[in-house]
Amino acid sequence: AAAEKSGYKHFMIKEIYEEPEAIESALVGRVTLDGPVLHELKEFDLENVEKIKLVACGTSYHAALVFKYFVEKYANIDIEVDVASEFRYRNIYVDDKTLVVAISQSGETADTLESVRIVKKKGAKVVAISNVVGSTITRESDVTVYMNAGPEIGVAATKTYVNQLVVLYLLGMEILKKKGIWNEDLENDFEFLKRSPNLFRKLLEDFKIDELASYYKNYNHFMYIGRGINHPTALEGALKLKEISYINATAYPAGELKHGPIALLDPKFPVFAIAPQGYLYEKIKSNIEESKARKARIIAITNEGNEDLLKIVDDIIYVPKAPDDMYPLIMSPVIQMFAYLIADMRGYDPDKPRNLAKSVTVE
Ligand code: G6P
Repeated sequence: AAAEKSGYKHFMIKEIYEEPEAIESALVGRVTLDGPVLHELKEFDLENVEKIKLVACGTSYHAALVFKYFVEKYANIDIEVDVASEFRYRNIYVDDKTLVVAISQSGETADTLESVRIVKKKGAKVVAISNVVGSTITRESDVTVYMNAGPEIGVAATKTYVNQLVVLYLLGMEILKKKGIWNEDLENDFEFLKRSPNLFRKLLEDFKIDELASYYKNYNHFMYIGRGINHPTALEGALKLKEISYINATAYPAGELKHGPIALLDPKFPVFAIAPQGYLYEKIKSNIEESKARKARIIAITNEGNEDLLKIVDDIIYVPKAPDDMYPLIMSPVIQMFAYLIADMRGYDPDKPRNLAKSVTVE
């Protein structure tokens, strides 16, 4: 088994270190001189799509949320995201201008599959995003865009989350392009995607958060906060931590703190703030200040060059500066690594979290 892990202690950490190559595989054939292209969707009528409904579970659901923030920023498309266990019991309205995107790493999650069957019966066109060639979802959907992350053994999704994001950014760009929407921001996003394998490589080589993890491993609670496109990063960070470390981690859009969760904060309840200097930076900064006023300890993750937060927060983790839309991607390895280190330091096996399965094939 040690050989399978190529010298790494766990599959999870091995798979985090595989992210640069995983991204490269997701980009192969999809980066052209004319920009991003998803050949799989050539025959699809994306020009006329006015509504997009995304359905997924767990980590895949968080990737879907990033897509929503990304695409709705540029186009007047009505985008809705739901977890499959809710979606399948709602009355989902679809018409000929609706596209359904079903995301499932394994392609075998029961609730997601049932959601696909239901909307197909209503006449919807379904694009599946999956990592497993020939999986059930790929057979039941109209077309599949593969993540190409390679097999993932660790129960907690890592490189497949990163690749879901990459593929969803490409899907978003494809839809926007077909609708005649393309601008400098999107061009910068695309350039960043192309550079991301090397940026990930450097980030994974350079960053050391062992000491930080060791300090935080004994806390029993965590509050993750983020805003806008960085809100899903807070959700995913909290999910990773609770899945493998069994720490009571919860995530909120930072603006909601004042409506309840802030009551929990005290010196024993640290806040993990997703706070790049993007379009909502001043807003999250003031949420950090409010948390600090409750004497909560704060770790912030932000972009290199941001010295502004040093005065306010207790700990800071830097990632390379990125276009606003791309922080969910470049911050992924950091939140994953933080959860991994804490789980390992607490003496748990991150590859085999209790009560969880890699794919949930029953309802
Ligand atoms: C399980 C796994 C999660 C995963 C979720 C959805 O709960 O433990 O890591 O995100 O299923 O899986 P899917 O294969 O449909 O993306």
